[in-house]
Amino acid sequence: MANYEDIFKKVVSHAKEYGYVFQSSEIYDGLAAAYDYGPNGVELKNNIKNYWWKSMVNMHENIVGLDSSIFMHPTTWKASGHIDAFNDPLIDNKDSKKRYRADVLIEDHIAKIEAKIEKDCVKAAKRFGDDFNKDEFVTTNGRILDRQKQIDAINEKMNTSLSSGDLEGVKALIEELDIKCPVSGTNNWTDVRQFNLMFKTQMGATADGSSDLYLRPETAQGIFVNFLNVQKTARMKIPFGIAQIGKAFRNEIVARQFIFRMREFEQMEMQFFVRPGEEMKWYEYWKESRMKWHNSLGMGKEDYRFHDHENLAHYANAATDIEFKFPFGFKELEGIHSRTDFDLKAHQEHSGKKLQYFDPELGESYVPYVVETSIGLDRMFLTVLSHSFREEKLENGETRVILKIPALLSPIKAAILPLTKKDGMPEKAREIMKMLQLDFSCQYEEKDSIGKRYRRQDAIGTPYCITVDHQTLEDNTVTLRDRDTMKQERVSVEKLHSIIAEKVNISKYLA
Ligand code: GAP
Repeated sequence: MANYEDIFKKVVSHAKEYGYVFQSSEIYDGLAAAYDYGPNGVELKNNIKNYWWKSMVNMHENIVGLDSSIFMHPTTWKASGHIDAFNDPLIDNKDSKKRYRADVLIEDHIAKIEAKIEKDCVKAAKRFGDDFNKDEFVTTNGRILDRQKQIDAINEKMNTSLSSGDLEGVKALIEELDIKCPVSGTNNWTDVRQFNLMFKTQMGATADGSSDLYLRPETAQGIFVNFLNVQKTARMKIPFGIAQIGKAFRNEIVARQFIFRMREFEQMEMQFFVRPGEEMKWYEYWKESRMKWHNSLGMGKEDYRFHDHENLAHYANAATDIEFKFPFGFKELEGIHSRTDFDLKAHQEHSGKKLQYFDPELGESYVPYVVETSIGLDRMFLTVLSHSFREEKLENGETRVILKIPALLSPIKAAILPLTKKDGMPEKAREIMKMLQLDFSCQYEEKDSIGKRYRRQDAIGTPYCITVDHQTLEDNTVTLRDRDTMKQERVSVEKLHSIIAEKVNISKYLA
């Protein structure tokens, strides 16, 4: 088994064991691509939301929030193009009867070539030692250049076929590359078909289809239809943004990789309304700004990259993904799209209501252009979890499992641990807990040996353990243990609040 699969399996089982993520309806053998967040999971999720909201809404005078409903008037989805164009290309293997996304099969094939390039680099690095220059190697080595040419040619063919709706071309490419079904091992494929990803349901009791509703596949449309409500009531001037966090639903054909691709998930989206013609300036601004946000968490700059889209969605004139290196490779974490005036214009046409802005500086009205930033909350959660999961070999030969979650995002900031259950230590520990719990999420634990409790808190990702012992009762000091260094120091109880506050100070991250 490849090492990354091994690591990913461990992350998934760790997430369950420590109350981060459970399979939905597990007692009924689960429901595919639906997950529940446990006690630690919900805290981490809330902390990610809060970090995003603070940086996007509270730190920008010209961005305000919204919480729109999941159900929307069905014409919304006609106008937005989702009824006609929100499709994935599907292909079935006739032998295994397994269904795949045709573009994902091709992308997986490309990933295999990329893995070969990476292998070549590792080999060369070993051969050349300190003299190895990766950038130079990948731009001059003949074998790598050939592989890269292959990748470019496949991408070009796939994008041309997908953007022109040439499904036969997509199938021909799968055949040309001799892509085989991972289950049956054969290339006995059906034709490629389009499959709409929206979930449909009904409102009220009529059966004639007039009350068909869709579960929203993105939160963005709730923002567009409220554009004027928000602009007028919050007295916003262009350029300005509307941010929203909420659930979205997609009937994904291939739902896999744990919470990476779910059928019910959460998005954190911001639509930024700008003057027509200024969208590219703002697109570049938000690209940089969002990458900075990711890097502010200190989870390794080299694990993020941009991937510009060649095959643009029906509403965009420029788009890029911020990709993160998940255990299964670089994959999309966030999308930044220049959506033109497509959505507002379409809603204007379908509703018959003007969605225009009077620009006092220009003295004219126009339909604003939009730059969108859209990040999947669950994918951000997986980013944090998979980056943080470590198995460390200790000097004494033991292994400790640890989640090195950025302290600001950790579900529990401090664990308060009486050394024993007697001599007034639990009472003192509870007193400390009371002092801290209003500002920081804390956990009180008295069961098991102190060593076992430290390991458990490491596995949860708690940055600080506070141990109350006999000396505490005498001089009001405790042992403060740091999760990452395992160093322990003696500090006075009065200082605890400021030490933890310093560690999780949001302004340090967002500076
Ligand atoms: N409003 C634009 C939009 O929805 P998208 O690229 O389709 O664009 C934005 O989705 C983000 O939502 C993605 O970058 C990803 O993080 C997240 N996302 C999309 N589909 C998802 C799924 N099935 N499961 C989990 N997250 C998903």
